Amino acid sequence: MRNCQIYTFAFALTLMLMIDLANCVPVNLDNIDAVPSKWSNIKSMNRVRIYHTASLLKDGKLLVAGGSDYYADAEVYDPVTGNWTLTESMSASRCWHTETVLENGKVLITGGQDETVNYLNTAELFDPSERKWKRIPNMRYKRIWHTATLLKNGKVLIVGGDNDSTSTTNGCEIYDPVKNSWSVTGSMNHTRSQHTAVLLNNGKVLVIGGSPVTDNFNNCELYDPLTEKWTLSASMNYPRIYQASVVLKNGKVLVAGGWHPGYSDHKTTELYDPSTKIWTLTGNMTQERDESTISLLEDDKVLVAGADKGSLHSSSSAEVYDPLTGNWTAVDDMNYSRAGHTQNTLKNGKVLVTGGYGNGYDFYSSAEVYTPQKTH
Ligand SMILES: *[C@@H]1O[C@H](CO)[C@@H](O)[C@H](O)[C@H]1NC(C)=O
Ligand SMILES: *[C@@H]1O[C@H](CO)[C@@H](O)[C@H](O)[C@H]1NC(C)=O
Ligand SMILES: *[C@@H]1O[C@H](CO)[C@@H](O)[C@H](O)[C@H]1NC(C)=O
Ligand SMILES: *[C@@H]1O[C@H](CO)[C@@H](O)[C@H](O)[C@H]1NC(C)=O
Ligand SMILES: *[C@@H]1O[C@H](CO)[C@@H](O)[C@H](O)[C@H]1NC(C)=O
Ligand SMILES: *[C@@H]1O[C@H](CO)[C@@H](O)[C@H](O)[C@H]1NC(C)=O
Repeated sequence: MRNCQIYTFAFALTLMLMIDLANCVPVNLDNIDAVPSKWSNIKSMNRVRIYHTASLLKDGKLLVAGGSDYYADAEVYDPVTGNWTLTESMSASRCWHTETVLENGKVLITGGQDETVNYLNTAELFDPSERKWKRIPNMRYKRIWHTATLLKNGKVLIVGGDNDSTSTTNGCEIYDPVKNSWSVTGSMNHTRSQHTAVLLNNGKVLVIGGSPVTDNFNNCELYDPLTEKWTLSASMNYPRIYQASVVLKNGKVLVAGGWHPGYSDHKTTELYDPSTKIWTLTGNMTQERDESTISLLEDDKVLVAGADKGSLHSSSSAEVYDPLTGNWTAVDDMNYSRAGHTQNTLKNGKVLVTGGYGNGYDFYSSAEVYTPQKTH
């Protein structure tokens, strides 16, 4: 009996050592072929947030701002300490606003909707070194579901959006950080909201799809910052609202999923080539997705996570696009199903998702990090 206990003890010790060794493997692994990708929960934010915004600051921290239940504050995530720190409040609670990091490292927040369901034309700047907000002049129009794109000249192009509960605008304006002022620039051909906008390598801005759904919204327009004019660009193969868009390392634009009443949700994805100005279909995702988030990984692949699944439900699934094969591959599911969340690739190559809603419209403060598969 006594011997038996000793053997059991020795066996348990050996087992623990083996497990320890096994645990060590993933951390030092220059000579191992591959580590599988995975999601891990990190500390939760101080607030539940949906329809908030998030951007990567110059120092590698992440600024998360606003969101529903209508918060005026923001919080900063430090990937080194793993801590979230609340900032002071913005001038208003905001959701469906925009957040853009300027060349000087400050962060521009524009528009959105406050807790009284007012549409906002106010804008403000966050200074990460002082952790303070400062009001700047108002935009000409109130806007929600608009886009903000940092141009190569350091100015920010604000495009479209709903400017009251019944009207969508084609109006656009430019913020100049040097003069700290707004100016109206060329209007789009179409009124547009819930679209996406990307900066092409040639300095032009491609604006993609969106509502109103009464239009066949596969159309796209191109903004030239030199002439401040818009031209209609080739249409996508499918109309899309709430799609996810990203510029690949090769300069092409990948558009994934989205929604349209004529098609329901899309699993289709397409590529725009700025040199030919043509859209071509590329691989289908493993499932239909709208309101998914997207970001570029260090190996030039693309991660898409979460989706709205209708009836106040969302998806925890995620998948990766390989530009070399044009194929999508499902990866680990997130721990939480999410829509109305944010996604950013951090400087360490990991991907941080925050907040959003789960099944039954359950709002989250939770956040998790995706560690991409490492191959050698
Ligand atoms: C991070 O949070 C922990 C626990 O709340 C705290 O002890 C630590 O001081 C924080 N670190 C920083 C840099 O804020
Ligand atoms: C909304 O934008 C349109 C221009 O697209 C403009 O004519 C209209 O006055 C704006 N409405 C509000 C409430 O700002
Ligand atoms: C929109 O584009 C069409 C076709 O290019 C053109 O006929 C029309 O005048 C444009 N409308 C506006 C408001 O720019
Ligand atoms: C992709 O999905 C679309 C729409 O469901 C379908 O028509 C098409 O055949 C699919 N393509 C492939 C290669 O499976
Ligand atoms: C890409 O997907 C297609 C269609 O599913 C498949 O035939 C092909 O083998 C895949 N290619 C790679 C490299 O995985
Ligand atoms: C998922 O989240 C729940 C709730 O926070 C937690 O109890 C559980 O341990 C998590 N699971 C994983 C695999 O992280």
